[in-house]
Amino acid sequence: MSTPEASGEGFHRAFGRPPEGIWSAPGRVNLIGEFTDYNDGFVLPLALPFATQACVARRDDNLVRVASAQRLEGGRFSVVDAALDQLRPATTSGWVSYVLGVVWALREAGENIGGVEIHIDSDVPIGAGLSSSAALECSVALALHDLYGLKLSLQELARVAQRAENEYVGVPTGIMDQTASLRCRAGHALFLDTRTLEVRQVPLDLEPAGLTLLVVNTGVKHALGDSAYANRRRDCQRAAKELGVAALRDIAPEKMDAFLAQIADVVVRRRARHVISEQSRVLEVVGLLESGRLAEVGPVLSAGHWSLRDDFEVSCAELDTIVEVAVASGACGARMTGGGFGGSAVVLLELAAVQAVTMAVAKAFATRGFGTPEITEIVACDGASRVA
Ligand code: GLA
Repeated sequence: MSTPEASGEGFHRAFGRPPEGIWSAPGRVNLIGEFTDYNDGFVLPLALPFATQACVARRDDNLVRVASAQRLEGGRFSVVDAALDQLRPATTSGWVSYVLGVVWALREAGENIGGVEIHIDSDVPIGAGLSSSAALECSVALALHDLYGLKLSLQELARVAQRAENEYVGVPTGIMDQTASLRCRAGHALFLDTRTLEVRQVPLDLEPAGLTLLVVNTGVKHALGDSAYANRRRDCQRAAKELGVAALRDIAPEKMDAFLAQIADVVVRRRARHVISEQSRVLEVVGLLESGRLAEVGPVLSAGHWSLRDDFEVSCAELDTIVEVAVASGACGARMTGGGFGGSAVVLLELAAVQAVTMAVAKAFATRGFGTPEITEIVACDGASRVA
């Protein structure tokens, strides 16, 4: 990740003046609670040491100008210009639409945002299931919030960023990623109830317990825009409707079997089984973490993975390999994380097992003809903030 100084210099090269400030927002890894956020359920993400920095300065006209350190053309910035009153959902594509979407969504929320220059610099891997889009949205949202003196809570800001993604970019995601990017705390996982938006910071004291987390990026690109994400969401809505509840969150896990028997379509039934059982897994993991039984979290993570593979059908051969090989070589547990169909897995393991597990996964990828996985040991970091 660039230092704030380097990002600031990038802004200067793009726009010929210094920024007014620099804001940073992290990507996230979800420990457990996958595809529960659009079912009004529970999630348990933590913020990553990967982040997006937005350097921003206001303008006194109605122009939005955006540049990115990751999008240099022939070593030069290509600056995207858009007029504030011309911003319309689904009129731009690619990374810049997440930035323009936030400006649009703030204005739609009645906030008085004027012209602005924005320079983006990020080390959140793109398409890796680690919320590069939420990091981008939240760095810009917080920057505009502070510069324009807005009075929104972090959760309201998360909603604005989600609206940018849902309506401006056009991807029907839930509220987990933006909330994680804005509200996570170092050393903790964020237990979020996506219905009430209440949060609890759950201590993740891994190191004293001799444990750690790995994030394994398969390098297989997922595209959330893919119809699969929207299809799964529709299946869940269909299940909730058939069961006569507002959302699958409303089905108590102990009554799951009786309810599932009422769903006619076998595929929709399996989708619902994943969501309802995943709700219990989140609560189980929170309970284990809060009672200091950290290693016991592992098998729950793995059970979550098999449910995603078999019932929700969003895994892929690379992700299954990580879980299978990590556990076989000594990890406490592992699972895919994020939107699926590629992206990353998270592995819980003893510090002493890091080398063996890393080597076993790399070897299995080579033997099975997959690309080289990117394996990073991570700690839980703070959510978004102003850094300069
Ligand atoms: C993506 C979405 C989230 C969530 C996850 C799956 O990351 O952005 O809202 O639905 O997939 O848990």
